Amino acid sequence: MRGNFTYYNPTKLYFGADSLKSLKDELKNYGKNVVLIYGGGSIKKNGIYDSIIQILKEADKNIFEDAGVMSNPTVDKLYEGIKIAKEANADLLLAVGGGSVIDYAKGVSASVNLDKDIDPWDEYYLKMNDCKVKPIPIGTVLTMVGTGSEMNGGSVITNTKTGLKIGKVFDANLFPKFTILNPEFTFSVPRYQMVAGIFDIMSHIMEQYFSDEDDNTSDYIMEGLMRSLINSSKIAVKNPLDYDARSNIMWTATWALNTLVNRGKTEDWEVHMIGQAIGAVTNATHGMTLSAVSIPYYSYVMPYGILKFKRFAINVWNVNPFIKNEDGVYKKTDKEIAQEGILLMSEWMKEIGLVIHSSELGVNLDNLDKILDATFLLNGGYKSLTREEVAKILKASM
Ligand code: NZQ
Ligand code: ZN
Repeated sequence: MRGNFTYYNPTKLYFGADSLKSLKDELKNYGKNVVLIYGGGSIKKNGIYDSIIQILKEADKNIFEDAGVMSNPTVDKLYEGIKIAKEANADLLLAVGGGSVIDYAKGVSASVNLDKDIDPWDEYYLKMNDCKVKPIPIGTVLTMVGTGSEMNGGSVITNTKTGLKIGKVFDANLFPKFTILNPEFTFSVPRYQMVAGIFDIMSHIMEQYFSDEDDNTSDYIMEGLMRSLINSSKIAVKNPLDYDARSNIMWTATWALNTLVNRGKTEDWEVHMIGQAIGAVTNATHGMTLSAVSIPYYSYVMPYGILKFKRFAINVWNVNPFIKNEDGVYKKTDKEIAQEGILLMSEWMKEIGLVIHSSELGVNLDNLDKILDATFLLNGGYKSLTREEVAKILKASM
């Protein structure tokens, strides 16, 4: 383990089919005014809304609603949420939904007490400043698995006017104070969203795994998480109501991006930068923007980190480094092993129904430049890309 680091994660987790029961006790820690934040209405259809309203009423809270948080939440919606939370004099923001709802709640939380001359988009998402004002505490009930937002400081907001989708990573003071993880709440997620979430988890792990050359415990933890995810994903696509599979996926998602496995790692995140740029231009589902570019991306950077890709193939995809034929046993080259790993990953992606061509998301030669303009270039992975190289990868992904 290289580097010097701190590990601190203040989010308390309640996990399991009975976990919503803990909400009542948690609510005792906060004042009367609760803003219930949710998305486009799925929680009303699956009954989660009714259960939560009942608990809030029993706890004698004043309930204010902030509904309609869209996937890929926008700056305009953020301004609306800040107004609602201010008017409610909010003591707690209760975010019930997926990453979009929780990311948005963090943006609201950090902005309610900002000086009125300071624009939150400019302050947090463009200037990337820390939150220096008192945030409103956040609690979450997760209904869609993938982003890890339930136990981290990430908040991704889209500015439709400037065509930018930017992720701000807030400090621990913006992490949810508590999160309720009931795998059964994810049963109603549509298949497309479920598999997009599964690939989002895989991508989070790969972004952290594919960096550095030292021997790091974090890499071993990530290999275990990926193995569990691959196994459970295959079961969940066949039977979305399989509790074991859905609960494993839920727990893996949280640990994939809750600041544990990036300890001592430089991290890559270029796939997310390209995916977010696609999302900003096409409004496509986050996980699918990542799956659509991952095979061309990893095939391109593989030669620069060949030993790690070989390790990935053997430890995650069970690639046998030897071939047996009539002439005896021969050892495959590092390149052959690494390529086999990527091939097995692409077969798995097809098996679970991921988008593997970015053209299906609306990426084409006409909007290529716009996507390239919105792509931030990072340098933590095995290869720092130029704009021309990203263009090559994007063209290969179409
Ligand atoms: O809006 P509703 O009606 O609730 O429907 C949602 C939405 O349409 C639906 N859904 C959620 N739970 C459901 C359900 N439908 C039926 N039953 C349920 N139980 O699913 C759809 C997608 O929800 P959304 O929250 O948008 O998905 P996700 O969790 O993938 O979040 C995506 C956002 O998170 C950002 C992405 O960029 C994107 O904006 N990310 C946040 C990160 C972080 N905080 O660290 C990191 C990620 O890399 C990612 O960038
Ligand atoms: Zn992601």
